[in-house]
Amino acid sequence: HGTSRINEAGHLEIGGCDAVELAKRFGTPLYVMDEAWIRSRMRNFVKAAKETMIPFRVAYASKAFNTLAMCRLVDEEGLLLDVVSGGELFTALRAGMPAERIYFHGNNKSPAEIELALDAGIRLFVADNFTELEMLEAIAAHKGKVARVILRVSPGVEAHTHAYIQTGQADSKFGFDLESGQALQGVRMAEEAGHLCLEGFHCHIGSQIFETEAFELAAEKMAGLCKDSYGQFGFETKVLNMGGGFGIRYDENDHPQPVERYVNIIADAMKKQFAGLPFLPEIWIEPGRAIVGTAGTTLYTLGTVKEVPGVRKYVAVDGGMTDNPRPALYQAKYEAFLANRALEEAEEVVSIAGKCCESGDMLIWDLPLPAVRQGDLLAVPCTGAYNYSMSSNYNRFPRPAVVFVQNGQAELVVKRETYEDLISHDVIPKRLLKNAP
Ligand code: LLP
Repeated sequence: HGTSRINEAGHLEIGGCDAVELAKRFGTPLYVMDEAWIRSRMRNFVKAAKETMIPFRVAYASKAFNTLAMCRLVDEEGLLLDVVSGGELFTALRAGMPAERIYFHGNNKSPAEIELALDAGIRLFVADNFTELEMLEAIAAHKGKVARVILRVSPGVEAHTHAYIQTGQADSKFGFDLESGQALQGVRMAEEAGHLCLEGFHCHIGSQIFETEAFELAAEKMAGLCKDSYGQFGFETKVLNMGGGFGIRYDENDHPQPVERYVNIIADAMKKQFAGLPFLPEIWIEPGRAIVGTAGTTLYTLGTVKEVPGVRKYVAVDGGMTDNPRPALYQAKYEAFLANRALEEAEEVVSIAGKCCESGDMLIWDLPLPAVRQGDLLAVPCTGAYNYSMSSNYNRFPRPAVVFVQNGQAELVVKRETYEDLISHDVIPKRLLKNAP
């Protein structure tokens, strides 16, 4: 993927940086992000959007990977930024991302989060439910401001993906229900509110989706809602956000479409749906995984080996579900290879175990590798999305460092956590202090 290649030493090289050198310099586990590739993925989307010849904007769903440096890339490349929490918003603002290009998602925004966003002057809120509309109105009124909103709608489209990352089906915690008329009720409520400015709608049908039909169907349903809102209230949709969810290739079973294809499918559906209507909304999409997923590679050092005679060989890495919870959560599949001996033929089949105290902490089952040795460097590609962002301190493992690589330069963008970091929020009540009187 991206700018990776195997160099003369038989080592993996990413962004012109030798993975063995990266491991030496920054330690392992290490998240390596290919900056040129992230930028090129963003540019592909933006270019495709422009070429549709309709108003079409691309946002980055920052939940996939959000750090100060990442927000700088999003700003430089001119995308919008989707945040889902005060924490993501704070990161974006601190990075200098212009507030008018940030919008706020989430199904249970707190009053404090809403205030932070209103004060910052973000582009809009994606209201998820009636409670949020009421809260937004009340807080905006209190501040004497107007909150721009779009309504998240649950369009009743089921995409074929893992049940936990499916979101568009009717029985979902997200969004105003379309079938039962909740979405139209939401339009009425927002239009009547004195401190809300309704701009349109949003839907997101799930993540890691390959089939284009699901997007077509969702486009049709959402356009239907725009038409109904126009018919009933004379409301002209300005923004129609079709969410993210565009799949990437983790292993040979995944067959993603080129990004242009997803963009064109959505644009074509909209051209058709809005033909003859007096308005055409600005179409937004908000990919996360498709922008950063393939740009990330995790480097691990191989450690202990356990062989169950005649059954299986377990080889443990110095990380696991703490830096990549996706196999444990979603049975996600990954490929991997030895970064320090990338040209050598496979000689054995091993299973890659994490080092957490948990049987489910297995990263990869039955992986063909050259005869492995302690100290070998394992590279797991496609770990740029939902890995660092879902990492944890389980077992009190410090989180790995993140580096951006490009043109032979490696730069730290997240420092490795230290043991001191781990206890920095701990407090011992006085009565429990050692030698307390
Ligand atoms: N928009 C909304 C409203 C979303 O909920 C999501 C993802 C996205 C956009 C971005 O979706 P993407 O383009 O990245 O597929 N942790 C899971 C994925 C959860 C996705 C949550 N929402 C995983 O590791 O597969």
